[in-house]
Amino acid sequence: MTDNELLQQAKQAMQHAYAPYSGYKVGAALLCADGSVYLGCNIENASYSLTSCAERTALFTAVAAGQRSFVSLAVVGGQDGDLRDFAYPCGACRQALSEFCGADFRVILGKDGGETKVTTLGELLPGAFKLVQEAE
Ligand code: THU
Repeated sequence: MTDNELLQQAKQAMQHAYAPYSGYKVGAALLCADGSVYLGCNIENASYSLTSCAERTALFTAVAAGQRSFVSLAVVGGQDGDLRDFAYPCGACRQALSEFCGADFRVILGKDGGETKVTTLGELLPGAFKLVQEAE
């Protein structure tokens, strides 16, 4: 699975975004260690704070299916599905990912024109909260 193939899957997932309030559509594709891919989109709610981000939709769907080991996550998003900018995972999603993914977990961002950016969870969320601290 190449980064571009994973990004294509994230774009497909964005087609299912339910974003009647913000109009901001997001799609995510999560690659598991066994090669399977789980998709997510943002799902908004009239009670705004109940909204689920695309990244957490993908993560929780995967965990609910028994997955625990993850390699990378592709994310695309934008207002009305316009992919002119990179859509970075929000802080809450970074923390949610850190429950299952290490600092080297790859996060792949895409936008129109084929430009991509690869970063890591460690770069996006240094000092992630853990109940039990790992030895330094
Ligand atoms: N959103 C995501 O799906 N992922 C993020 O990391 C940030 C924000 C969604 C939530 C909401 O439906 C819309 O984008 C605007 O905040």
